[in-house]
Amino acid sequence: MKNRLRILIAGAAGQVGRELQRSFADAGEIICHDCDTADLADPDQVRAMVRSAAPQIILNAAAYTAVDRAESERNAAMAVNSTAPCVLAEEARRCNAMFVHYSTDYVFDGSKLGPWMESDKPNPLNVYGASKLAGEEAVQQVGGKYLIFRTSWVYGPHGRNFLLTMLHLARERDELSIVDDQFGAPTSSIELADATRAIVSGALEGKFGPTENWAGLYHMTCSGSTTWRGFANAIFARSAGVLQGKAPAVKPVLSSEYVTAAKRPRNSVLSNEKLYARFGSKLAPWESALDAVISRLAAKAPAAEL
Ligand SMILES: NC(=O)c1ccc[n+]([C@@H]2O[C@H](COP(=O)([O-])OP(=O)(O)OC[C@H]3O[C@@H](n4cnc5c(N)ncnc54)[C@H](OP(=O)(O)O)[C@@H]3O)[C@@H](O)[C@H]2O)c1
Repeated sequence: MKNRLRILIAGAAGQVGRELQRSFADAGEIICHDCDTADLADPDQVRAMVRSAAPQIILNAAAYTAVDRAESERNAAMAVNSTAPCVLAEEARRCNAMFVHYSTDYVFDGSKLGPWMESDKPNPLNVYGASKLAGEEAVQQVGGKYLIFRTSWVYGPHGRNFLLTMLHLARERDELSIVDDQFGAPTSSIELADATRAIVSGALEGKFGPTENWAGLYHMTCSGSTTWRGFANAIFARSAGVLQGKAPAVKPVLSSEYVTAAKRPRNSVLSNEKLYARFGSKLAPWESALDAVISRLAAKAPAAEL
């Protein structure tokens, strides 16, 4: 990748946005935006943000991600997750920039027994999933040099996520009840950002051929799958040193016993075959990706601060 590229990251302070900053740090000039600098719910601010940056690459890690709150804030979720990506894709086309956007496993209803393919029909169970699906469709409609990566159960060293919540709760509780009948693939923000960087670099270098060969929608998750309870158990088993023996007991509960405003899919495991076939890209198994995030946390902060 040439050094003078201008790379705009929207949602730069979010969990994926922060890792994208790290991963693309040596790729060119990074222009970061977040709530404080541009409100993506306002299309005029989205346009102004892109026009003043004049980027060759736009990475959109911004999203309205409050899954339960979205049930009562449909318009806000739609503005950030559907209208904003549409305007970003239009602006990317206008300046011939590559546009990378992320979507979610929650576009599916969870009814399939095996992993979901890109060709499977989405049928979101909640407003967040519907808003993300509308965003995907809008970006595809605009076309151009775009990549949409559908991912799942994102966590990492920063931000609001399941791993950090579990480590926090471990210090306060002796027992936790965690849902054990939803299946998915925990995916680390580090893996996501690094895979994105490799694919974007390859596409810019012409490694994947002309735009029509690579532009499109791909599933991108860590490999393997588990339940939320399985994820929690793995977190506590792998953080034993960090937690200094404070791991709580993890009791399984059914989704029907843990009622939330938004319904969630029972099985949202995504097949990554298309990503591998097109780009040769394969993210780590979720367990080793978890080890890497925990090591990063342990290296950065004393146990008491986790
Ligand atoms: N988290 C998951 O489990 C998960 C699963 C599947 C897919 N994804 C997708 O992965 C992508 C990255 O998610 P993430 O987990 O990194 O999300 P995140 O940590 O919640 O970060 C999203 C960022 O977007 C910003 N944002 C929200 N509304 C905005 C607005 N109106 N104007 C400007 N910025 C705004 C947020 O700022 P504030 O914090 O200030 O609001 C935050 O910095 C998203 O497309 C998401 O849908 C996430």
